[in-house]
Amino acid sequence: MSLACIILAAGQGTRMKSSLPKVLHNVCGKSMIYYVLSSAYSVKPARCILVLGHGNKEVSQQLPEQFPAKTVIQRQQLGTAHAVSVAVKKLGGHKGDILVLYGDTPLITPQTLKSLVRTHQKNKADVTMLTTILDNPTGYGRIVRSKDGRFAAIVEQADASSNQKKIKEVNPGIYIFKATKLLSFIKKVSKNNAQGEYYLTDVVGYLASAKAKVETLDVCADEVQGINSLAELALAEKIMRGRINEGWMAKGVTLVDPETTYIDYDVKLGPDTTILPGCLIRGNTKIGSEATIGPFSHLREGTVIKNGAKVGAFCEIKNSVIAENSKVPHLSYIGDAVVGKNVNIGAGSITCNYDGKKKHKTIIEDGAFLGSDTMLIAPVKIGKGAITGAASAITSDVPAGALGLERSKQKNIKNYNVKKKQR
Ligand code: UD1
Ligand code: CA
Repeated sequence: MSLACIILAAGQGTRMKSSLPKVLHNVCGKSMIYYVLSSAYSVKPARCILVLGHGNKEVSQQLPEQFPAKTVIQRQQLGTAHAVSVAVKKLGGHKGDILVLYGDTPLITPQTLKSLVRTHQKNKADVTMLTTILDNPTGYGRIVRSKDGRFAAIVEQADASSNQKKIKEVNPGIYIFKATKLLSFIKKVSKNNAQGEYYLTDVVGYLASAKAKVETLDVCADEVQGINSLAELALAEKIMRGRINEGWMAKGVTLVDPETTYIDYDVKLGPDTTILPGCLIRGNTKIGSEATIGPFSHLREGTVIKNGAKVGAFCEIKNSVIAENSKVPHLSYIGDAVVGKNVNIGAGSITCNYDGKKKHKTIIEDGAFLGSDTMLIAPVKIGKGAITGAASAITSDVPAGALGLERSKQKNIKNYNVKKKQR
């Protein structure tokens, strides 16, 4: 059965109190919309339509290229049913099933979407929707069931009676419809409700009233957390972080304290690597095997740490390679650098990569040894096996095997402390 997918992401996200369009907010280094598209594409839709509105130019520019969804603009956000109607026009009389997802529900997994599609097709249902049970269902549409437990309707928070508000089974906003049924019933939706919007949820209710086959599939609440505020965004980040960390531990990476280990979605780690507490590992950072990172270090975009290398405490590394068995043990900033094998970087050393206008490169070749507090004023190169004297500001290349020393002579002023007291 051919499958089309519609993702709704036109809303302003007023409750985020942010100028960034809601679906561009990041969760572990990827936008919300990235995750939704990624899960949607896991069920191999023949076509995918993304409904945009607020901030559509910004969102369009930042869509991940690997998911070739077509975008359509919903000029006025008149409600979720209206958004689906706008998208349906782009589907050109699609006959099979239509999967509808909301762009602000990024934690939905491919496994769950696959089982939603399977359940729907196996039961030959007219609509199958996910539901979940929440301790605090405030804000979500509630699932109203008849006495025999059959699905009856979805009632929005704003329209719910005080009894209905007590219902803990809610609508996460993920449905698969038989296209013909969706198209005929969506025409019946009116905006006669507390918010004056066209609710997609009404279509499911109409289908139930018309004795069509409505199925529900209960899922774990974590997967369907909707993001409407920055507090909910932080919660989603925490859930995603837990998944990422568990994934790496299962692959042989030691996380001494997963609670304080922050690893972005695109990071790659090798087995037998240890991450000590308080580390933030971002972007597309790659770390080999048997490496040690932390405690309390920040690895940014473009960092490559090779096998057996060590990054110690309070270091920041950006757009740099640290080759095999090299050490950056304490309090260093390494940016735009290529560090060879078996290099030792003394405590407090810094690549001064930025002159206020441009970023410059530092090269440190195999076996070099930097004394503590070396300032490398880039562009600069430290040759193979070269040494720098502690506290040197290195402004020109140090040849292989040489000592680069830049240090003024120390003066000792005798009895200085005594004289000072007499003044
Ligand atoms: C919606 C559901 C509610 C469900 C909740 C789950 C409806 C009527 N209600 O409520 O039952 O529990 O999601 O999170 O569907 N959107 C558009 N165009 C519009 C309106 C919305 O594209 O005209 C998009 C939004 O950008 C968002 C999604 O649809 O991604 C949901 O809209 P939102 O306004 O957040 O709906 P909720 O009130 O959360
Ligand atoms: Ca929402």
